[in-house]
Amino acid sequence: MFLPILFVFSLLLSSTHASVLDFCVADYTAPDGPAGYSCKKPAKVTINDLVFSGLAIPGNTSNIIKAAVTPAFADKFPGVNGLGVSIARLDLAPGGVIPLHIHPGGSEVLIVIQGSICAGFITGATNTVYLKTLQKGDVMVFPQGLLHFQVNAGGSSALAFASFSSPSPGLQIVDFALFANDLPTELVVATTFLDAAQVKKLKAVLGGTN
Ligand SMILES: *[C@@H]1O[C@H](CO)[C@@H](O)[C@H](O)[C@H]1NC(C)=O
Repeated sequence: MFLPILFVFSLLLSSTHASVLDFCVADYTAPDGPAGYSCKKPAKVTINDLVFSGLAIPGNTSNIIKAAVTPAFADKFPGVNGLGVSIARLDLAPGGVIPLHIHPGGSEVLIVIQGSICAGFITGATNTVYLKTLQKGDVMVFPQGLLHFQVNAGGSSALAFASFSSPSPGLQIVDFALFANDLPTELVVATTFLDAAQVKKLKAVLGGTN
């Protein structure tokens, strides 16, 4: 008789505990745990933690990819911490490209606001390509962890917003992983079957060494 009562009591306690915090605004001043940021004390949370301003400003596309991503992820937007969501702005100048990349931590939903964008992803199981030129108002999904890209498909600037199923979806760009670090050229050649000359050229462009 005694044990079940204790069990119910401890369940009650733990569910009470779980409902103490309605949300977990990131506290950048406290140490991070294995699960991420510490939670700011609710009494210290302000509206400014819950609002991110800046996505009205076009990103600077004067760069090699002629594109810019302005993220509002948990490291810059404390309010999304713990909520399983985040958002980013994408600007693509004419000829702009968001190169082949993955988000290890979350799926993406992209909505085109202006211009047209050729977007696609490649499945992990069969390397099937799903590809579409998106117009204003079109929305496309990019499943978590799959390789994908966006290319400006028109002659004018394109604008899109991407939302994610994680406050910290992460970003790994394939070309940067291959050519922007000190992985020796011979190993890049051996593991990609690209020509050494091409690898050295891309390392020079992207700041890689070796
Ligand atoms: C955009 O970036 C380029 C290259 O870094 C820089 O020269 C330029 O001043 C920047 N433009 C603005 C408006 O910040």
